[in-house]
Amino acid sequence: MKRVKVGLLGCGTVGGGVVRLLRQNGDVIRRRTGIDLSITSILVRDPMKERPDVDDDLVTTDPRHVVSNGCDIVVEAIGGIAEARAFIGEAIERGKHVATANKSLLALCGAGLFDAAAKRQVRIGYEASVCGALPIIRILRSGLAAQRVTSLRGVLNGTSNFILTLAGEERMSFDDALAIAQSKGFAEADPSLDVDGVDAAQKLKILAELAFGTEIDFDDIEVQGIRGIDSAAFERAAAHGQVIRHVATATRGCGGIRLSVVPEFLPASDPLARARYEENCVVIDTDAAGEMSFYGKGAGSLPTASALLADVIELART
Ligand SMILES: NC(=O)c1ccc[n+]([C@@H]2O[C@H](COP(=O)([O-])OP(=O)(O)OC[C@H]3O[C@@H](n4cnc5c(N)ncnc54)[C@H](OP(=O)(O)O)[C@@H]3O)[C@@H](O)[C@H]2O)c1
Repeated sequence: MKRVKVGLLGCGTVGGGVVRLLRQNGDVIRRRTGIDLSITSILVRDPMKERPDVDDDLVTTDPRHVVSNGCDIVVEAIGGIAEARAFIGEAIERGKHVATANKSLLALCGAGLFDAAAKRQVRIGYEASVCGALPIIRILRSGLAAQRVTSLRGVLNGTSNFILTLAGEERMSFDDALAIAQSKGFAEADPSLDVDGVDAAQKLKILAELAFGTEIDFDDIEVQGIRGIDSAAFERAAAHGQVIRHVATATRGCGGIRLSVVPEFLPASDPLARARYEENCVVIDTDAAGEMSFYGKGAGSLPTASALLADVIELART
């Protein structure tokens, strides 16, 4: 049995999910992979907060303690930019592999972090940064490695899809639907990132860079949010047998790569129309196999934790 120690940065929705899922499925992981994962310490901001699943002795407010406490791999689930970048940078400097769920950080400073990791010969896993439990990064990176991607469309934000589903199917107001999404733990701390399309655009950048093998400038993505969609639009969609989805699209044509995140009216037969509530969907078109659709829980505690632990297991194998 290979014993691997994990330093955990953050114990909120996602970090708490890592603790719970490891407790729930640690035996499955050991049986399947021969890897025994344990958490050495957990960074939080408020050590007095109630955390029923967490061993108090592991909790610290000192990021250095987490990164240097004999761990082999660091999991980043604090979110934000400056501190997350500093803590990940320190982990890399100390020669630790990193798994992160932080798409904002990757969209803004991924290139620098990946360079630093390459120099120290460590790796950064980021499956959890896009589409939660759905292993779309692995699909693009390895499953489709022999195929040329011509286009990629997706419903990439669970919160905006949840709101659009409730508004379309139950005529619920925007604010009520957002409040439910927040109570279920899959809205970003700042929900404007979700509903204004920034979160989906950050994920689209990550996916498009993998799909097309080139760096994407975030400012080249056309972004429109869902706040302005009124009830008449949902009535109109229903009258025509359509649904409204917040669609992220990346296509490669003779004019280059075009990228957008915009609300669209879709026929019920469109694969993206079938993604309901917090579900995500990615439809990939390739030269060798045509269209393929992938569905899954795109956010939330355990789905996102499952992607982080999948990365940890992959990193532990190397
Ligand atoms: N929520 C989702 O469904 C989801 C899905 C995919 C990806 N993500 C990404 O996962 C990351 C975490 O999201 P989340 O929803 O889990 O956030 P969250 O619930 O707000 O949890 C953040 C955790 O990090 C701790 N923390 C934050 N800043 C800190 C600092 N400077 N020093 C020490 N501890 C700090 C907080 O401590 P306290 O507990 O003491 O406040 C909390 O435990 C984000 O990058 C987000 O984009 C989230």
